[in-house]
Amino acid sequence: MNVLITGANRGLGLEFVKQLVTHDTQIFATCRVPSQANQLKQVQEQYPERVSIINLDVTDNTSISRSYKLIRTKTKNLDLLINNAGIAIEDGGLGTFDVSTMKSILNVNTIAPLLIIQQYIDLLKRGKQPKIVNISSGLGSLARANGCHMSIYSLSKAALNMGTIHLAHELKYDGIVVIALTPGWVKTDMGGENADITPQESIAGMLRVIDSLSLSDSGSYYDHTGEIVPW
Ligand SMILES: NC(=O)c1ccc[n+]([C@@H]2O[C@H](COP(=O)([O-])OP(=O)(O)OC[C@H]3O[C@@H](n4cnc5c(N)ncnc54)[C@H](OP(=O)(O)O)[C@@H]3O)[C@@H](O)[C@H]2O)c1
Repeated sequence: MNVLITGANRGLGLEFVKQLVTHDTQIFATCRVPSQANQLKQVQEQYPERVSIINLDVTDNTSISRSYKLIRTKTKNLDLLINNAGIAIEDGGLGTFDVSTMKSILNVNTIAPLLIIQQYIDLLKRGKQPKIVNISSGLGSLARANGCHMSIYSLSKAALNMGTIHLAHELKYDGIVVIALTPGWVKTDMGGENADITPQESIAGMLRVIDSLSLSDSGSYYDHTGEIVPW
């Protein structure tokens, strides 16, 4: 299986690589600064045949197309794309909104995943039972929104969810599954140490969900336990 993961140098992205690499996979582990991705490099040294570390800043169009050109020389197909890279910046609601922070969050969490799918779609169309997984958040659920101080992050993930539904419809006839998947509240730099679960638990759960997907699941919003999340 050929897999592309964004934000693979730390947190959930790194744990995706660590767990996927023990299977028969070719992983394109992308990150902004490969020279500083020490933990990822350790995994790559252990599995040099299975892990390629590729430079990709998901907000930079040139970086997206450069990564594509490089990966295109290594494979003709992708079976799984995991749009994992994300940023979370707390806000205090009205009075605290700041244009440049808002744009940064939307660029990474909402716009970049769609542009990456667009760039890599020909490789995905040639994949075996291809899947696109957009890492969302429970905070992206409109039904569960409770007014926490993460309004811009929440709307960025809600908009990503809408993009997921649209692309699921658009790509159905190409046999490509597109879902939104929430990792739970996880102990990473983003989730903090008080979070509910470890990256190991979250990723093991999300990989079970990904493994079980068929075309009829496309356009769904799951959590890491396989439960449907209300939009
Ligand atoms: N942890 C949680 O509790 C939780 C809950 C719900 C959803 N999520 C979602 O899960 C995903 C992973 O989160 P995490 O907890 O692993 O967060 P994290 O530990 O903060 O890691 C974020 C990752 O995204 C990368 N990234 C940020 N901006 C990027 C850019 N412009 N280009 C490429 N990579 C970029 C970071 O790379 P750098 O090292 O270069 O910054 C890092 O690899 C995110 O989409 C997040 O929204 C997490």
